[in-house]
Amino acid sequence: MKATLTVDFKNEISKIDPRLWGSFVEHLGRSVYEGIYQPNHVTADENGFRQDVVEAVKKLNVPLIRYPGGNFVSGYNWQDGVGPKNERPVRLDLAWQSIETNQFGLHEFMTWCNQVGAKPDMAVNLGTRGIDEARNLVEYCNFPKGTYWSDLRRENGAEQPFDIKVWSVGNEMDGEWQIGHQTAYEYGRLVHETAKAMRLVDSSIELVACGSSNHQNATYGDWEETVLENAYDDVDYLSLHQYYDNFEDDTPEFLGKSVDFDNFISEVIAISDAVKARKHSQKQINLAFDEWNVWYHSMKNDDAQEKWQQAPHLLEDHYNFEDALLVGSLAITLLKHADRVKIGCLAQLVNVIAPIMTNTDGTPSIWYQTIFYPFMQVSNYGQGIALTPKQTVATYKAKDYEVPYIDSIAVYNPDKNETVVFIVNKANETVDFKLAVSEAKLGELITATQFSGYDMHQTNEDQSMSLQPLDDVLIEAHQVTVNLEPLSWNMLRIKTEL
Ligand code: AHR
Repeated sequence: MKATLTVDFKNEISKIDPRLWGSFVEHLGRSVYEGIYQPNHVTADENGFRQDVVEAVKKLNVPLIRYPGGNFVSGYNWQDGVGPKNERPVRLDLAWQSIETNQFGLHEFMTWCNQVGAKPDMAVNLGTRGIDEARNLVEYCNFPKGTYWSDLRRENGAEQPFDIKVWSVGNEMDGEWQIGHQTAYEYGRLVHETAKAMRLVDSSIELVACGSSNHQNATYGDWEETVLENAYDDVDYLSLHQYYDNFEDDTPEFLGKSVDFDNFISEVIAISDAVKARKHSQKQINLAFDEWNVWYHSMKNDDAQEKWQQAPHLLEDHYNFEDALLVGSLAITLLKHADRVKIGCLAQLVNVIAPIMTNTDGTPSIWYQTIFYPFMQVSNYGQGIALTPKQTVATYKAKDYEVPYIDSIAVYNPDKNETVVFIVNKANETVDFKLAVSEAKLGELITATQFSGYDMHQTNEDQSMSLQPLDDVLIEAHQVTVNLEPLSWNMLRIKTEL
């Protein structure tokens, strides 16, 4: 099979917002406890932060981390997690039916973010709490000093404000499972009033309103429209969440889910812009795809878990090779929408539906899942300017969509004078791939790698899976040709002159 990706360097989608490659840490399972925080671990520093995890997170170069949830946040009192640790209450976490010790909270998270080089995306509880909690938290975090909440922060050890810019106003409030679930109208009105109070404390913050918790949710569409009708001028971003599964064990169907992901994004853009038009607004709402991933391998096990444990093994999906291919394909789809999707959060980061896993006692103490590799490559090299992709390639029929056998995109990084091409081959055959460029001259190959040759069900607990070199890349001034292995993830970096 043959496939061509044609790009014109004058035809840009957009500059890529580095926050597209963010992630998510929720108080859930072993994400925080035994994940990023484990004071008795051999690699723990004086804060109790596992340094093996810090090193792994740094490899992923995540610029933004959403915290503390997720469903957890809708029952959370942030005050429980500040102040002397021996005075912090132990609470029931109703969302995940677990015990929360509050030994890790806001200050610990901010210190940890500094260690890994990420900024926070702080979620406020609109489930059991509301306007008062949200404005107090902004004051605690961002007000310099001289007020009750800002001085409490200083007493608790942070003289300087945290200066948190990005705030999520609630979590998945469209979901019946959410504590404090609301109708779209109720939520839209609450966002309007909550955002007003938060911005009165700090007018420089950016706010994310909850969109639908998945593309298939019964209220999808109406939800986005009604929330924006009520809060268009109050927020900067609308969120999207989506997880895919392969319970059917049907690889072509599963890999075709990127078409659903793409449609979801295009539709939410259309709905946002329809509200904009109706309001005669000059303002554009951008999107925060702040939960995306594969999630299904752990569900049966989670249903059988005993309740009310501390740091239970929940949502510990062990990702296989085809999951990595889909994650790569979803990342390419995010790049295709770089003009509107400004924030993305791979959900999640450590132990819970995560690229990084820790073992409490066993060896290795840390391991990388299959999805670690494509995500690491896009987060490190999917930077700069996304170029409009024109693909010529055959398609196949999945249940609901025509799926191109190839997903590909090229980005140009002006800081490094390099073009980076990401390609997923979904065909179970070799593809003779060509990149054709205009308005730029290609130079030497910096590196070319592939992730290929594994069984679709292979997982990586033994760390035997890794990126391999992609050989025989032929570069001419205006084109590149290479053979792509069947069912593979590929990345090429090429020196480029404009
Ligand atoms: O990421 C796991 C859960 O998925 C989050 O808590 C929730 O927001 C979503 O339903």
